Amino acid sequence: MRQRKPLVVANWKMNGNSELVQQMSEALSVLKQPLPDILICPPVIFLADFPKHPNYKLGAQNLSEQLVGAFTGEISADMLCASGASSVIVGHSERRALYGEQDSVISQKVKVAIEAGLTPILCVGETLAQREEEKTLQVLARQLDAVYAAQPHLLAHSVVSYEPVWAIGTGRTATPEQAQQVHQFMRQHLAQYDAEAANELRIIYGGSVTAANCEALFAEADIDGALIGGASLKVADFSAICTMAKDS
Ligand code: 13P
Repeated sequence: MRQRKPLVVANWKMNGNSELVQQMSEALSVLKQPLPDILICPPVIFLADFPKHPNYKLGAQNLSEQLVGAFTGEISADMLCASGASSVIVGHSERRALYGEQDSVISQKVKVAIEAGLTPILCVGETLAQREEEKTLQVLARQLDAVYAAQPHLLAHSVVSYEPVWAIGTGRTATPEQAQQVHQFMRQHLAQYDAEAANELRIIYGGSVTAANCEALFAEADIDGALIGGASLKVADFSAICTMAKDS
């Protein structure tokens, strides 16, 4: 049996509405155990609308690296906790590319999240150009080192998500073999900081995951679940993915 419990995360991005909250919460509530850990990360405005249920937890898609004060438009880790979030996505490639988030800010966000009691889901991944230049592992090592080299104690409280930028929203998923190779590399790389924490770390995959391709991904030894964008907005598809993850 796999020692790491599978984790399936819905990243709604800037999508969804109250009807989807209701439909998704109802559908997930009737799923029968055993289930993977299921985490829904809607836009924060919807967190309070989700009824509490043991089948799922809630998370956010971003947080401020600051604790409190004059930071217009930002939301703090404490505020997310108070809104019912248990986790937060950090360093998604859309935030790196569109909002200029650098490794240093992402590192600070991981620290702030953990200190507030949130589990950060640290997203890392290479662009298509970086993959074609055979720089994938180098890029991933840099993104991981930026967070954990100076603060290795954070590893035991984190989740890492491998999201190749070229696979996000493109319908072009990494093959299970490609993803497994990267996950295994990352686990080995992180073992230099804390071997036990690296072994227990959940490393999930994101990028065009669907109900049709998730089973083969979940079957790989170092793929501990998925971070799902588009398919997490479809109630039936997302429920099916959750059901398949529990068996992996
Ligand atoms: P898609 O599943 O739509 O490719 O999005 C992946 C993603 O970015 C999840 O964070």
